[in-house]
Amino acid sequence: MMSSIDVRDRDPYPVDQFQINDVYRSDLTGILIPQGEIGDRVAQLATEITEEYRSNPDFYPVCVLKGAMRFFVDLLRELDLDVPYSEGIVYSSRYHGGPDSDTPAVEFFQEEHLAGKDVLLVEDILDEGYTLATLRDRVTDFNPSSVTIATLFDATPNREVELDPTFTGFTVPDAFYVGYGLDYDETYRDLRHLGILDPAIVDG
Ligand code: IMP
Ligand code: MG
Repeated sequence: MMSSIDVRDRDPYPVDQFQINDVYRSDLTGILIPQGEIGDRVAQLATEITEEYRSNPDFYPVCVLKGAMRFFVDLLRELDLDVPYSEGIVYSSRYHGGPDSDTPAVEFFQEEHLAGKDVLLVEDILDEGYTLATLRDRVTDFNPSSVTIATLFDATPNREVELDPTFTGFTVPDAFYVGYGLDYDETYRDLRHLGILDPAIVDG
């Protein structure tokens, strides 16, 4: 595993210091990682990934929908591989089978393109690990040359399935996060910072 920025001991920033839609402001207990810091870290990850895959035409980044969409686009824009490459998507929903379901629902798209590729699964947040462990196994069934994991956020303390991402943006403490693509019930994806959702909302 390469470097990760560990923000587990950080005190979240007060929400009133940030540009946030007023509809969202009262739902958040703080901002853990502001937009600019996310952007800088994405650029660092792009440098690490460029070094790893430079001149490799089989590089095949796969966006784990829907949460990783912003991360995926921002990351790919910063890559500089010297060769053309293709890209894929996969849809995964952990909470499809109810909140306690271990196995995420997975829907592939153009999965025949995975054969022979050096797949980079690009995920928003790695939590208990079930989602990426399942995706890695399901992708492996389509005979890629390699399967590697990049996650922007890693809630390491929550891990239940052993899984080490090769590229990690930030190591974060246990909380429910929203923003920069992460949602709660399809809301808050458009919040530009990584915010901490008030537990009163998560617990109903
Ligand atoms: P895991 O299977 O427990 O590792 O959960 C990973 C999946 O659950 C990710 O793809 C996310 O979509 C979702 N998830 C986990 N934690 C959070 C969170 O704090 N906010 C939003 N989504 C989350
Ligand atoms: Mg996700």
